[in-house]
Amino acid sequence: MSDSIGTSTRSLHADDVLNTVSDVAPPMHLSTTFRYSNDPETLIPFADLSEPPTPTNYIYSRASAPNPTRFETILSSLLNGSAISYSSGLSSLHAALTLLNPRRISIGEGYHGCHGVIALFTRLTGLQKLPLDCAATDLESGDVILLETPVNPFGTAFDIAAFAEKAHSRGAYLIVDSTFAPPGLQDPFLWGADIVMHSGTKYFGGHSDALCGVLATRNQEWYKQLFEDRIFLGSVMGNMEAWLCVRSLRTLEVRLQRQSENASRLVHWLYTALRDPAPKAGSDEEVVQNVLEEVFHASVQKTEGDWLQKQMPNGFGPVFSITMKEEHFAKALPSKLHFFQHATSLGGVETLIEWRTLSDTMVDRRLLRVSVGLENWEDLRVDLLKAFKELGGK
Ligand SMILES: Cc1ncc(COP(=O)(O)O)c(C=O)c1O
Repeated sequence: MSDSIGTSTRSLHADDVLNTVSDVAPPMHLSTTFRYSNDPETLIPFADLSEPPTPTNYIYSRASAPNPTRFETILSSLLNGSAISYSSGLSSLHAALTLLNPRRISIGEGYHGCHGVIALFTRLTGLQKLPLDCAATDLESGDVILLETPVNPFGTAFDIAAFAEKAHSRGAYLIVDSTFAPPGLQDPFLWGADIVMHSGTKYFGGHSDALCGVLATRNQEWYKQLFEDRIFLGSVMGNMEAWLCVRSLRTLEVRLQRQSENASRLVHWLYTALRDPAPKAGSDEEVVQNVLEEVFHASVQKTEGDWLQKQMPNGFGPVFSITMKEEHFAKALPSKLHFFQHATSLGGVETLIEWRTLSDTMVDRRLLRVSVGLENWEDLRVDLLKAFKELGGK
């Protein structure tokens, strides 16, 4: 598709080339195996093939299948690189590290599960973990910087171009985990990423009902290797999940715009209330200040220069975090809310809140992560204010 075609149009039409039946909603293909041609003349032994099979040569669904291929076709257009899908976000990271097999990986705190994948590689290959702010000279050719931006759980951002420059100055590679800012919000390739990774479980699925992961790259050799490796890793996404995710991609841009806008409005309200120097007795500002310590989100992040506005020109993502004044406030807050469901994960159409220490050992115990959904933001604000009042005993 031409570069001038917009995100939503791509979401709806990038897979038109795969329409072989007249159904408007794509069919779901559950078969694990596919009939070979009936014409003996066209049958070529695998060993005699000049090129390995491509994703649309359906043979066996551990290699490729119609619904995941449709999902990948749309994503290749949205992500501006060749996309390949996996059974989960973590299996996509596993595949990326299998491809690059770095000796060192520089990584920040971010999503704890990615550290679990790195620990597996450390056990197998001796992979050494370096901090995200390590000196460039600590990196060598073939090493990796894994940059999560915006970062889980805070929702604050890092300058992708600066990390790309650091990696490339040493012959290392930059993988950007862009889960918190899908297409429409951020294009890491524009700023020098070598591989873009997503937990598709979040915004690509969008409805808290499908687990998947995605890698995209502009390096065709890497893409071919990833496709071949996946056959043996066996970490393909399910057909049902791919069908659900195609359904969800159709609405990706509008969902994200609204969810991101809702988040920024809530964050702005909290941020401003917290900074009122002299809140009136009984005011909303006083209620907020009684229980809330801080709010974190790229929309209120202080940065040097204008990289953040350039990197995220259409909004700062639907996830933000808050720290409460006391641990027991954080523990009790979810039970006092009606429109925020107390659950882990993020990216669905429904708003979730999580007392993060329940699933993440690395965070401040006063921290709650909020994944803002499609509810009307004023209802969310009123719900939060009421819960804050109950917590503060006012
Ligand atoms: C930033 C980030 N990366 C990767 C993952 C892992 O994705 P999955 O749960 O789909 O394996 C998550 C999951 O929460 C995440 O938030």
